Amino acid sequence: MLRTHHCGEIRKEHIGKTITLCGWVQKSRDLGGLTFLDLRDRYGISQLTFNMEEDQAICEMARKLGREFVIKAQGTVIERSNKNLELPTGEVEVKVTSLDILNASKTPPFTIENETDGGEELRMKYRYLDLRRKPIQEKLFLRHQLSKEVRGYLNDASFIEVETPVLIKSTPEGARDFVVPSRMNQGEFYALPQSPQTFKQLLMVSGFDRYFQIVKCFRDEDLRADRQPEFTQIDCELTFVEQEDILNVFEGMMKHLFKKVKGIELNDFPRMSFADAMKKYGSDKPDIRYGMEFHEINDLTQNKGFKVFDDAELVVGICAKGCAAYSRKQLDALTEFVKRPQIGAKGLVYAKFNEDGTIKSSVDKFYSQEDIKAWGERMDAEKGDLLLIISGDENQSRSALNELRLHLGSELGLRKKNTFAPLWVTDFPLLEWDEETERFHAMHHPFTSAKEEDKKLLATEPGKVRANAYDMVINGVEIGGGSIRIHNRAEQEKMLSLLGFSEEEAKAQFGFLMDAFEYGTPPHGGIALGFDRMCALFGGSDSIRDYIAFPKNNAGRDVMIDAPSQIDDEQLKELGIALKANK
Ligand code: AMO
Repeated sequence: MLRTHHCGEIRKEHIGKTITLCGWVQKSRDLGGLTFLDLRDRYGISQLTFNMEEDQAICEMARKLGREFVIKAQGTVIERSNKNLELPTGEVEVKVTSLDILNASKTPPFTIENETDGGEELRMKYRYLDLRRKPIQEKLFLRHQLSKEVRGYLNDASFIEVETPVLIKSTPEGARDFVVPSRMNQGEFYALPQSPQTFKQLLMVSGFDRYFQIVKCFRDEDLRADRQPEFTQIDCELTFVEQEDILNVFEGMMKHLFKKVKGIELNDFPRMSFADAMKKYGSDKPDIRYGMEFHEINDLTQNKGFKVFDDAELVVGICAKGCAAYSRKQLDALTEFVKRPQIGAKGLVYAKFNEDGTIKSSVDKFYSQEDIKAWGERMDAEKGDLLLIISGDENQSRSALNELRLHLGSELGLRKKNTFAPLWVTDFPLLEWDEETERFHAMHHPFTSAKEEDKKLLATEPGKVRANAYDMVINGVEIGGGSIRIHNRAEQEKMLSLLGFSEEEAKAQFGFLMDAFEYGTPPHGGIALGFDRMCALFGGSDSIRDYIAFPKNNAGRDVMIDAPSQIDDEQLKELGIALKANK
């Protein structure tokens, strides 16, 4: 070892000892006769001192060290006269007697300290330098700790980790595939897995009983704060289980993680059907850290001359507690918010239940005080509260009011970082109608089974069939999702045909899975949790990027290595791609 200790571990009890430290020069202060230097490694910072009077040569060497030089310093631990109690090592310092420069450094493009002056793009380009900063390192330590606990929990529950291939054939999970051309099979392509879905099901056919894998998945979709083109799942599958068993195992895992990593005891997760979640929160991933539930008031608003409500499919509102004093400006801002094209509401109606007992609304022309009182009763409004109402097309109104509820929740400080409100959303629809392609899509994926009691509707009203599918949602984030699978050939064929696959297409794409179903396939089901999202949730951040060592930017680029990039003609020719393009 080049060193005897880490920079973070030197304490009072080391006083008098001769030690050797290695690390990066974070800062130096030259006070003439004395030079102080902060030496940093993964574990912390130690102060080194150099005294001109005692050793001129070493002191002069120290004065020449720039930021981020890598050095090895030997010396004696002494008590500091000027203690820094904010640093764990702040009561002592190392009086250096021998100094080696292990490597020089150019001046870094931004300061490598807890707070940095570097902009996002610059830090992405020099990600390896950004990763030297403590707050970023801590995020990856958290990720490591979580993965260790996940492995421990699943191992104790008899799961075994099995690796599945990365060069595969397309598995539809709703996004586009990334494809890889095959040199040996020109004109043909592998797809990178959007998830190991079919492989984990095949492992159940093989009798592995309980599988897991912390695995990279690839999806070519538009990026957001909680989406990366390559991301990691904790992917799991179990045999001879029902939905309830799976929910229990993974609720147990999440409780274990919260206890071990954050010291928080979570209560049992409430369950909510998809239909209820949409009705109460306008979202299949409701943030239930706070109430502000939806209330429908169609029946209380009709035939009073207000055409907007009369013509609406849905009139729905929320009660914002204590917001009756909102100013004109604040209400205008909320109206502008819901009218933004990405939210798409036509307008916003308000009713203030003032502290003095009066009621003032934006539709006083059409509705009496008694009318509006009735709305207030429906929405549990008290003095001081503000009703906010959206109307129009059912789905669009719910979705716009969901955005408004989340926006207000943030504005009012109700979405607290250190409060965790998990729930299971269950009974998702099996299928979803796609206007564009005019056909049904699987809401989860095509391997998900229908609820036994709804199977009779498959032939007549497939849109109404509910699936044995569930999501784990925490603080409004979809952390994971899974389902009980179809495990027999006829049922799988029927499902694929409902989704518009011809017999040949179904066979070509999923023949291998359906063949396997004919060799004694046990009932099985599973779940995949988004590991990056889980890390961000535990770390109190909305963005998953910092929890990934080398993430892509919003355009899907790695600006550090400059990928994606063109490949040379020779490589293209070998793959048979250039030839095709030239034809
Ligand atoms: P699903 O598609 O719901 O299910 O994905 C599971 C979880 O993975 C996370 N996730 C993502 N995280 C970051 N970036 C992305 N682009 C991204 N896409 C998804 C989410 C999500 O809940 N095979 C099924 C699971 C199963 O049925 O067992 C699947 O992949 O947290």
